[in-house]
Amino acid sequence: MKEKAKSDGVETVWDRFEEQQPQCGFGQLGLCCRNCNMGPCRIDPFGEGPSKGVCGATAGTIVSRNLIRMTAAGAAAHSDHGRETALVFKEIVEGEVPGYEIKDEAKLNSIASRLGVNTDREIEEVAKDVAEIALEDFGKQDDEVISFANAYAPESLQQVWQELDVAPRNIDREVVEIMHRTHMGVDADPLNLNLQGIRAALGDGWGGSLIGTEFSDVMFGTPEPVESSANLGVLEENKVNVITHGHVPILSEKIVEAAEDEEMIELAKSKGADGIVVAGMCCTGNEIIMRHGIPTAGNFLQQELAITTGAVDAMVVDYQCIMPSLTDVADCYHTKVITTSEKAKLPGAEHIEFDPAKADKIAKQIIKTAIENYPARKEEKIGIPEEKMDGVVGFSVESIVDALGGSLDPLLEAIKEGQIKGIAGIVGCNNPKVEHDEGHVEVAKKLIANDILVVGTGCWSIAAMKDGLFKPEAAELAGDGLQAVCEQLEIPPCLHMGSCVDNTRILVAVSAIAEALGVEPSQLPVAGAAPEWMSEKAVSIGTYFVASGIFTVLGTTPPVLGSNEVVKLLTEDIEEVTGGKFAVESTPNEIADLMLDHIASKRKELLGER
Ligand code: SF4
Ligand code: FE2
Repeated sequence: MKEKAKSDGVETVWDRFEEQQPQCGFGQLGLCCRNCNMGPCRIDPFGEGPSKGVCGATAGTIVSRNLIRMTAAGAAAHSDHGRETALVFKEIVEGEVPGYEIKDEAKLNSIASRLGVNTDREIEEVAKDVAEIALEDFGKQDDEVISFANAYAPESLQQVWQELDVAPRNIDREVVEIMHRTHMGVDADPLNLNLQGIRAALGDGWGGSLIGTEFSDVMFGTPEPVESSANLGVLEENKVNVITHGHVPILSEKIVEAAEDEEMIELAKSKGADGIVVAGMCCTGNEIIMRHGIPTAGNFLQQELAITTGAVDAMVVDYQCIMPSLTDVADCYHTKVITTSEKAKLPGAEHIEFDPAKADKIAKQIIKTAIENYPARKEEKIGIPEEKMDGVVGFSVESIVDALGGSLDPLLEAIKEGQIKGIAGIVGCNNPKVEHDEGHVEVAKKLIANDILVVGTGCWSIAAMKDGLFKPEAAELAGDGLQAVCEQLEIPPCLHMGSCVDNTRILVAVSAIAEALGVEPSQLPVAGAAPEWMSEKAVSIGTYFVASGIFTVLGTTPPVLGSNEVVKLLTEDIEEVTGGKFAVESTPNEIADLMLDHIASKRKELLGER
């Protein structure tokens, strides 16, 4: 597809990445500060030029401020998504969004029980209280930990957070406080700054993102294993192809429904198409594939390539991870890029603003726009690759427990017996600094070969699926122990746990395992990796995992190397307090090795293995 792009005269992310070389060294090290207009200032990493900014800020201060601003943006993105989900949920209760409903009452009751809400009532009353508690977590003004973190995080973790004074008090407030502290002339202490970064990230993982996941399950159903397929080959030449790209299921759920509407299918046929294909992309793809088996066209680095097939009649986007270049690529073909969120408009795109109160009508309007664009295709430019891969997706914590026969015990037994040596979470984006998907796939393969059960989310999961790792037959690539477990349970060795906000499912799973074993999450033979991360959301995700006791390996270097103090804090010192820490390795082999070593040492401590 890169070659097709080239011959069609389309510039892609890889071309622009090349043009950016060499990338700014100060930026890479985190040593450039633009936080006030006495600057910009930069610190000389070789000690030959300035060692302080105009205001006196040191490398440690500047690196820390820059890093936690990344965390703030990431936490804000996830949590704003969570808020939107919670608001629609509240509107269901208030009868303002007729297109949505409470689909999974059992899930709602389980959330309510955790939160201490009386479930022995009409479901609407339970829902009202749960929605109120969630929205309070975004706006309460006391200093107590947010209700969702309090309800979901293990007691031992919460104690650590209290001791460090990093328990999140309010999802939004922690983000605002980062912006305040990093303003010129406020917090200059690297440790203190990073602690606030941790607090905001915890507000994301155990707050905003968690609310996003839990309410999406209630409204659209808790995922269960379902077969589907992934890669650009899911597009069909003779059908209207609509790609939903972005993150929030509130819109994509409705797009899926509208495309199944008889009237729409007839309209498509009247334009000469055989029907309508909806395919996902990035996390909104993860949301609909795991709940409905709707195929996924690809992950982050395939968004431009999808349009390059010449067969995408509309690319519908909400927000996050949408490249501004999409409209430039679309200019070379007939594709309509349709923006739908007031928060995320693209120059050159058609804007059809989504409103949950008129969800069905707007979703149909979007599908209709795609259908009407079908005859505008440029035949000579159509070229859909054949590649697509089948697999099983949709392993929520609930469905994993189901697959295990109703309790975690068989998994715990397999871990104790050594059939499964440990569990690894692989998450995150794509990044042109890494060969597309190679980090994701190679790390996963090496881990399963060593009897590590792999779970994951986001763009990792699409990479894994395209490579066949979600097929039950992929168990053949696993070590003997894991292979036997997979065959017995009829599951693949790599489990798709959802979108990026659904990393909270991994937090919940790890917590449940720790509680079942009576240990802290940091004592488990568990490790995480983000081999191809690029977004600020990933900074927040990595931080909340580390602050929840999980060893996390990054495959691309975060902009912190300008301060040894900060590097030491994140890769060494933090382990003493949270039990988790970061590491950075560039090759998949080394990433996997670090995870395997960590898991082996945790097994030794926990189970007394030699
Ligand atoms: Fe320079 Fe300090 Fe202003 Fe940053 S805050 S731009 S280091 S003077
Ligand atoms: Fe994502």
